[in-house]
Amino acid sequence: MTILVTGAAGFIGMHVAEALLGGGRTVVGIDNLNPYYDVELKKKRLDRLRMYKNFTFYELDISDRSALYAALGAHPGISLAIHLAAQAGVRHSLTHPFDYTAANVTGFLAILEVSRQLDHLKHLVYASSSSVYGANNDLPYRVDQQTDRPVSLYAATKKANELMAHAYAHLYGIPMTGLRFFTVYGPWGRPDMAYWRFTEKIMKGESVPIYNHGDMKRDFTYIDDVVKGILEVLVHPPEKGGAEPPHKVYNIGNNRAEKLLDFVAIIEKTLGLEATRELLPMQPGDIKETFADIDPLRHDVGYEPATSLDEGLPKFVRWYQEYSED
Ligand code: UGA
Repeated sequence: MTILVTGAAGFIGMHVAEALLGGGRTVVGIDNLNPYYDVELKKKRLDRLRMYKNFTFYELDISDRSALYAALGAHPGISLAIHLAAQAGVRHSLTHPFDYTAANVTGFLAILEVSRQLDHLKHLVYASSSSVYGANNDLPYRVDQQTDRPVSLYAATKKANELMAHAYAHLYGIPMTGLRFFTVYGPWGRPDMAYWRFTEKIMKGESVPIYNHGDMKRDFTYIDDVVKGILEVLVHPPEKGGAEPPHKVYNIGNNRAEKLLDFVAIIEKTLGLEATRELLPMQPGDIKETFADIDPLRHDVGYEPATSLDEGLPKFVRWYQEYSED
């Protein structure tokens, strides 16, 4: 069984690919190694995957259709696909809008189109985001709430992915599942996200920029729980031939809204250092609070997050301490 993982040099992509390879699966990985954040980190993640002989890697941009078709043409047996390649980052989308349409709209379309050519494809799982809930939904967020009022371009492109997937599932019967990730963190994570920025700055004695004066909450989700969830979802494709197209969307979160200031306190405690807090206003495009209702995913695939923030965040911090010494 060959499984495609796009964004294989990314944070979630590397962990998912590693879990699959460790379980004896054959993985075809794709990534463009874009410089949004440290390319050396991405190369180190890839080095881990390259230790497995059943891993094949293509450095290409998914919005480059001909490169994508040429690479996947060599792997007609791909039966499952996990599409994680994207331009991530909520606030960055205000300053670099065209990067988001290129990767998340044109690139996503290329993935849908190439999926039509993969005769053995049974299921395409793709990354959506908690940001699609915008600013005015009741908590916890449920998948049946309105999501047509995004407050950032990033969120708009992720919602566009869900709509495009629905249309392709309807037109071509490709079974697809969108996962709305809720602020995923852990070892080998993303330097642009709060857990990494805060840890790095506290260790360097620099002040920590805290938005909305700290009056924020996030449903922080530990990477191992997310990987387990993705792999469960992967083997549960939506059924074909029913009244609805074979397309589903789920939240994948930790089912707890944690205060940003408590999050900072856990990092301080783990490091044994005190942060200098720089309290800043709310950033445009940001959401004050996220909190995932995960009952549908629990019910359909048995997803159960097992890692509290108290347990998971120190794991990241300790990993970062070692990583930054290398
Ligand atoms: C993250 C990812 O960046 C998105 O790609 C992903 O889709 C999204 O999670 C999601 O799960 O929906 P975000 O929740 O904004 O977005 O994650 P962080 O950048 O780690 O921010 C977490 C919290 O810390 C937010 O409240 C943010 O405003 C705050 N923050 C972030 C700061 O106070 N200071 C910073 O320097 C960075």
